[in-house]
Amino acid sequence: MAKKLIVANWKMNPATVQEAEELFVSVTKIRVPAAEVVVCPPFPFLGIVNKFSFRIHVGAQDVSPEKKGAHTGEVSAEMLRSLGATHVIIGHSERRQSQGETDQLVNRKVRAALKAGLVVILCVGEPKQVRAKGFAAAKRHVRAQLAKGLKGTPKASALVLAYEPIWAIGSGKADRPEEAALMASAITADSGCPVIYGGSVTSQNARGFLQYKEIHGALVGGASLKAGEFEKIINSVTK
Ligand code: PGA
Repeated sequence: MAKKLIVANWKMNPATVQEAEELFVSVTKIRVPAAEVVVCPPFPFLGIVNKFSFRIHVGAQDVSPEKKGAHTGEVSAEMLRSLGATHVIIGHSERRQSQGETDQLVNRKVRAALKAGLVVILCVGEPKQVRAKGFAAAKRHVRAQLAKGLKGTPKASALVLAYEPIWAIGSGKADRPEEAALMASAITADSGCPVIYGGSVTSQNARGFLQYKEIHGALVGGASLKAGEFEKIINSVTK
């Protein structure tokens, strides 16, 4: 991956399609020479990509493991593709926790998305109580998660791993960049895939992570909802 990848995870924001359009239009105006940018809005706003997207990619925050048919409420990888999505976030810790997603389900989603030609951004990361036991314990946790999530996927798949320590997400307490870089290098050694960091990334700390060659980009939640802040994060790739 030549350029750093900056992914916006809007989560369940903003509240209306008008606000989503506004935010999306502001983001498309950002100059992104040194970065590849992917915006992941909620499903209902994905269609706006067809109207506004040129410089940036659009992705989804989840996908069904099923191809089609009687699966009420689900959204298939093919549907995402037909809306212009190129990427999909899978296995975010919020889904693992609040929707009870298991490693097995995450793995089925990964395989379905890859098969449909989407670039998968697979999230892994340890909870606070595991990190409290030390970095080695965190690494074991992440490696196990990785092995289960990637089971049966062909080598050289279109995959990006997002290392997101759960305790760092939305907490304002990002990981230490040097530890994130160590974890990223362990993940790449295991998987052969590029790794991006996520968890309380802001315009203030982004450069600290992005300066490491082991860290191929950032997954940005809260700070991606303000176009100005997101722009500064994108620009910290070059500065
Ligand atoms: P945050 O979220 O930047 O708000 O911590 C990151 C994520 O959950 O992907």
